[in-house]
Amino acid sequence: MDSIIVTGGGPLSGTIPIAGAKNACLTLMPATLLSDEPLTLTNAPRLSDIRTMSQLLGSLGAEVSSLSDGLVLAMSSHDLNGERADYDIVRKMRASILVLGPLLARQGRAVVSLPGGCAIGARPVDLHLKALEAMGAELELRDGYVHAKAPSGGLHGGIVDFPFVSVGATENALMAATLARGTTVLKNAAQEPEIVDLVHCLQAMGAQISGEGTDTIEIQGVDRLHGATHRVVTDRIELGTYMLAPLVAGGEVTLGGGRRNLLDAFCTKIEEAGAEVTESDAGLTVKRANGPMQAVDVETQPFPGFPTDLQAQMMALLCTAQGTSVLEEKIFENRFMHAPELIRMGAEIDVHGGHATVTGVDKLKGAPVMATDLRASVSLILAGLAAQGETRVGRVYHLDRGYEHVVAKLRGVGANIERVKEDG
Ligand code: UD1
Repeated sequence: MDSIIVTGGGPLSGTIPIAGAKNACLTLMPATLLSDEPLTLTNAPRLSDIRTMSQLLGSLGAEVSSLSDGLVLAMSSHDLNGERADYDIVRKMRASILVLGPLLARQGRAVVSLPGGCAIGARPVDLHLKALEAMGAELELRDGYVHAKAPSGGLHGGIVDFPFVSVGATENALMAATLARGTTVLKNAAQEPEIVDLVHCLQAMGAQISGEGTDTIEIQGVDRLHGATHRVVTDRIELGTYMLAPLVAGGEVTLGGGRRNLLDAFCTKIEEAGAEVTESDAGLTVKRANGPMQAVDVETQPFPGFPTDLQAQMMALLCTAQGTSVLEEKIFENRFMHAPELIRMGAEIDVHGGHATVTGVDKLKGAPVMATDLRASVSLILAGLAAQGETRVGRVYHLDRGYEHVVAKLRGVGANIERVKEDG
């Protein structure tokens, strides 16, 4: 099992290229199941989650070829021969549930393992199932699996009114509705850039969809979808993560390919804390406006609000900002597992329910810490960038799920960071 060692140091400078979005790619890949013609994705991120999704699609009979060093995924679902997404794969990655809608729409049947709990909360899939039921699907939960069947004429259009916003349920419903008979309306739909990206890809495949990027999406079902080539949108979470690096460690960094409209609420919040963000053709350039960073209050919300996937990283910044900040986590229960690790580095954090109060200290101190989930692990690396001495982050396999080449990218802007093999 590998560890990452970060030694806090001086200011950072240079450019970090931002990859295609993991969360977009993980929903674009199952879209291949909707058509018997090839779907090609460019600007794909090189991550273990992408390999897990390739494995899952392969187990259903799809062909997935990784080309150009993993940047291009050439997929074909011409000959599907499976309808079962096995627990062994689904338990590794919750996004596996996204094959349910496409399989049901194309083949009329699917058997998909329930993802089970995960480190950041219970995360049920009831909204996914209710949306598919509204399109006529018959569902049965047996032995930890969802057994789903479309009615004899296939799925039909329906009205789905989500009680709260779910990114994954919106994606599953959207994909299923593209091949359903008639019109489907998704109310209180997710508006994330990854949803808009999925809709653009489905439109390129011939789907009839309007309203993407708003809270109401309308889908007019078509008989079949055809092949397409689609470029995966920029990863706004990787973007936001590295935007914090020069704010934590000092210096000025350009995030290649970054655009402000992917992260407006986040940009406004870090500006309030004392950042200067400049947009140019090259991307976003970030530095401290003048002097030390200041405390700010943060509340996570669905898009266009402050993303929950940047809460842990923002906490790492606020640990050394002047004053007291309150972070409120509104999307997931139990998403402050990074707090005890940051406390090991000298941070002053008090977690009470869905709130964390962070009182800025002058300096963090390096310590051995453990990654507990994907975003938590990168928050510890950020904290280590400015800490006194050495921070050793264990269990970095979490990081490999969502950040490609993290060591090379941070070294490229002058950080003192390396990956080492641990015994045992
Ligand atoms: C996606 C992202 C994840 C991000 C999250 C919120 C992917 C692969 N993952 O996850 O990185 O943190 O959006 O921006 O894109 N819920 C239910 N029932 C459901 C579905 C969700 O109760 O059927 C709850 C969840 O437990 C959570 C909230 O709704 O509390 C939002 O979850 P959701 O938007 O569905 O997140 P994911 O799609 O799983």
